[in-house]
Amino acid sequence: MSLIRRTIAVGILSFSAVLEIEAQPTVAIDVASQERIKKELEQRIQSLKSDPKKLKELREEGQSRTVLCRTCHGKDGISVKELVPNLAGQNPVYIVDQFQRFSDGRRFDYLMSGLAKSFSDEERINIALYYSSLDKQLGGGVDSPLLPEGKTVYNEICAECHGTDGQGQEGYAMLAGQRQDYVLKMLKEFRDRTGRRSNPWMSAVALRLSDQQMEAVAAYITNLK
Ligand code: HEC
Ligand code: HEC
Repeated sequence: MSLIRRTIAVGILSFSAVLEIEAQPTVAIDVASQERIKKELEQRIQSLKSDPKKLKELREEGQSRTVLCRTCHGKDGISVKELVPNLAGQNPVYIVDQFQRFSDGRRFDYLMSGLAKSFSDEERINIALYYSSLDKQLGGGVDSPLLPEGKTVYNEICAECHGTDGQGQEGYAMLAGQRQDYVLKMLKEFRDRTGRRSNPWMSAVALRLSDQQMEAVAAYITNLK
């Protein structure tokens, strides 16, 4: 076992241990430790960059698990179906966090929840490393009179966390070039707190937006490069 591999394995242990506690319905989600886990994962992924051979190997392992995924997320991580998100270029820490959310029930999708449960922690990381290495969808293609309004909403509310150019940061989702229909659907899930997706920050944000502002900001995001 190489040093890097061992570091990853140790990290995963603490990752699962804390999340197990969190999955108990009576225990409040410990936001601070969630953030710490994401930081640790970020650091591990950063340190892999100094071992390109290992990184390539892990990405290939990840890729080998994505045969089924292609029918919806596309062969290059660019979605080929309505309401399915692009994964190419997405932040790896965000992807691993979403797998955890699908599997512990904080996020629900009939297929994705089952799939996420079927992967080991290491497979989740490898798949995330693979998708994050693919070229992201170049933004564009939406022509709407709502774009200027979308830009205002984005810069005033969203940029703080998702970055001025929508590239995300650390564990925050990259939004630039994401599908418009998917972004709009997610904003509504957060606002309506349907139980399919929840996050206190995003719900607070989405509750402030009118339907038109949601449509506008989704259009703007899809065009971001
Ligand atoms: C039948 C279509 C389908 C297949 C196959 C599929 N997915 Fe998904 N995936 C979805 C949909 C739909 C969503 C959005 C779920 C929602 O509405 O919350 C999603 C969401 C995701 C997300 C969250 C992305 C984000 O931006 O939050 C990840 C990560 C993901 N899928 C990875 C995978 C991987 C890896 C595989 C293969 C092992 C896979 N998916 C197979 C349809 C699919
Ligand atoms: C305070 C920080 C914060 C702000 C401000 C914020 N977001 Fe988010 N956003 C998040 C976090 C954290 C997540 C991940 C949610 C989760 O799954 O737990 C997220 C997730 C999302 C997603 C889902 C991405 C995906 O791939 O599934 C969308 C879409 C989104 N945000 C859009 C927006 C828009 C549009 C705005 C502005 C109107 C905004 N966000 C403002 C923190 C923020």
